[in-house]
Formats: sequence, structure tokens, C-alpha cells
Amino acid sequence: MRAVQANGNGLTDAKLIEIEPKSPEAGQLRLDLLAMTINPADLLMLEGKYGVKPRNAFIPGAEAVARVAEIGANVEGFDVGDLVIPMPGSCWVETMTLPAKQVIKLPKDADLEQAAMLKANPATASVMLRDICDLKSGDWVVLNAANSAVGQNVIRIAAKRGINVLSIVRSDAAAAQARAAGAMHVVIDDGSNASIPSDAPLAKLAFDAIGGTATERLGARVEDGGTVVTYGLLSGQAPRLSSHDLVFRGLFLRGFWLASWFGQTHPKVISDTYGELTKWLSEGTIGAPVAATYDIGDFETAIQHAAKEERGGKILLTGSGWPK
Ligand SMILES: NC(=O)c1ccc[n+]([C@@H]2O[C@H](COP(=O)([O-])OP(=O)(O)OC[C@H]3O[C@@H](n4cnc5c(N)ncnc54)[C@H](OP(=O)(O)O)[C@@H]3O)[C@@H](O)[C@H]2O)c1
Repeated sequence: MRAVQANGNGLTDAKLIEIEPKSPEAGQLRLDLLAMTINPADLLMLEGKYGVKPRNAFIPGAEAVARVAEIGANVEGFDVGDLVIPMPGSCWVETMTLPAKQVIKLPKDADLEQAAMLKANPATASVMLRDICDLKSGDWVVLNAANSAVGQNVIRIAAKRGINVLSIVRSDAAAAQARAAGAMHVVIDDGSNASIPSDAPLAKLAFDAIGGTATERLGARVEDGGTVVTYGLLSGQAPRLSSHDLVFRGLFLRGFWLASWFGQTHPKVISDTYGELTKWLSEGTIGAPVAATYDIGDFETAIQHAAKEERGGKILLTGSGWPK
């Protein structure tokens, strides 16, 4: 079966390899991977610019949806054919064998594309809205790159919680995508001046995926003492706030990384978080568009597509088990 192997030296430094399916031992499952997402973090991994840098050749891919293909001894609660998401990485593969406790079981009728995108971006949106400060119904948050998958999930989850969102994007097409996710207040920031015009009240919390001066413009939309959370590196520039906002208005600037959240959070809280996300997946509360799917054999074209701006949705790789 096929897998993508990379070295961390650039987007084109990866190759297709053959791997043998590994029979599950006690407590393990063998999965057939159906669809695997290409996220900005995967592109950073391929370029050697992510928060972790493997020393040797590695299999990229943080998230996927899979079917249970084989079940080891002493595993309860799974049947062959069950849909699951694997929680460890190295997902750009057609087969994976792992402990049963490292997968999340999904409803049989789960939307496969949305399920492939469940682990990273909806969780990031949900945890950032829940854990950084005490947001109540009626409070405001502001975010840039609001048409991204994280952004669209912030818009959707905030609406469910009665939280107002000011959505900042960089084009008319992106504004339409944010509105399609339910955004009520959308502003286009062309990056040309220091202030983002809006009648919306100042926000308690801001989510920054871009960095550089975009963070500063976002900070200006945050109330005194509020928090700006940098969680993405899309511009490649360090986030910055104005001295005025930091000194005289007491803004806080902090980071968020889901990988750290996994490491610092009790397993029961992680399990409950994904239980809620799975429920929201079934209800259609969370989600983001898919722009294209590519067979894993066409991974090079898929990576090129994923690296394009204004692609309008996620790019997924698919394995042999993907329904045609
Ligand atoms: N910290 C964490 O734990 C965590 C978890 C998940 C995701 N992330 C990060 O969150 C960000 C969004 O990820 P995603 O998967 O939601 O994105 P996505 O759906 O793949 O969409 C990419 C988004 O980035 C925008 N964009 C790209 N380059 C930009 C630039 N230079 N300036 C402004 N906007 C730019 C795109 O806008 P256009 O459509 O206009 O091109 C689009 O909205 C990424 O940086 C990702 O690494 C972080």
C-alpha cells in the first residue's frame, strides 16, 4: 500500500513509497485510510519550518478519516468497517496499525470529507473559544483569515454559543466564503492602512493566523485588557502589537498550539472535546469546504494546489478505499 515520505527540505522533496500492512497485535487496530487532509501545518512540515522538525525521513499528515480493517485481540467496541479518525500523525498513508485507544470512533453515516478534517481545525476553533478567556453569550471576538477552515469553524461554533464575531478577510471571494459559514459582520482588510473600519463593538478576544502588521490591525479591534492569540504563521512574519495598545490599553499577546494542548490536557477532557465535536459533525454545526480531492498517487499536484492562495477550500488526498 502507498504512503508519502518527506525529508523536510521543501514542498517538492517527497516521494511515494510502498508499505506493508502490519497485522494488529493485542489492543491494536489496523486501519485503511480513506482521506487525508493537507493543512498549512503539513506544508510547514515539508519545508522544515514547523514547531517540530523530524531528524529523519518522515510520513507527513496530521489528520485523516479511516475504516477499521482488522481488529487485534482484547479490543472491544469496534467492528470491521467502523469509521474512525486516527489521533497520531503520519497520516498520508493507505494503511496504519495503532492502539485502539488512539482512535476516535465516528457515526457510521459521518460525512467522510468533513470527518477527515475533524481533528485539527474544528478542535482548534473550539478550544480557543472555550479555554482562553471566559466568553459569554453576547461577547465579541475578532479574527483574521476568517475564511480559513479554523476561521469558518470559529464562526460556526461562536454562533452556536451566541458569541458575536467580526470576521476579517482579504478579498471579496473570501468574504463570500465567510458569509457562507454564517458570518454576519465581515470586513475586507487589504493591508494598506493601519485601521480596519467597522461599527462592531471592540472584542474581548482576537485570533490571529497571519502575523506581522495584520496582528497590529487586529489588536486595534480589541477592548482594553483583551487578548490577541496568535495561532498561525501565514505571512511568515512575527506578530506585533502597537506599543500604544500594549502599554496604554493593556492588551495581551499570546500563542496557541493544539499540539501543546494535547500534551497539557487530561485525556478525559480531550475525549469529551472530541465527543462534542463528533456530535457537532453529525449535526452539521462544524465544517469547511473541500476544494479538491486527489488520489495519493497524485500527491505532488495536490501539494501544489494546497500551497496556492485563494483556493476556496481544503485539498484532500484519498486512498484506494475512497468511494469513487
Ligand atoms: N496553532 C494551532 O494549533 C493551529 C491549528 C490549526 C491551524 N493552525 C493554523 O491556522 C491557520 C489557518 O489554517 P487552516 O487550515 O484553517 O487554513 P486553510 O483552510 O488552509 O486556509 C488558508 C487561509 O489562509 C489565508 N492566507 C494564506 N496566506 C495568507 C496571507 N499571507 N495573508 C493573509 N491570509 C492568508 C487564506 O486566504 P485566501 O483564501 O484569501 O487565500 C485562507 O483563508 C494556518 O496558519 C494553520 O497553520 C494552527
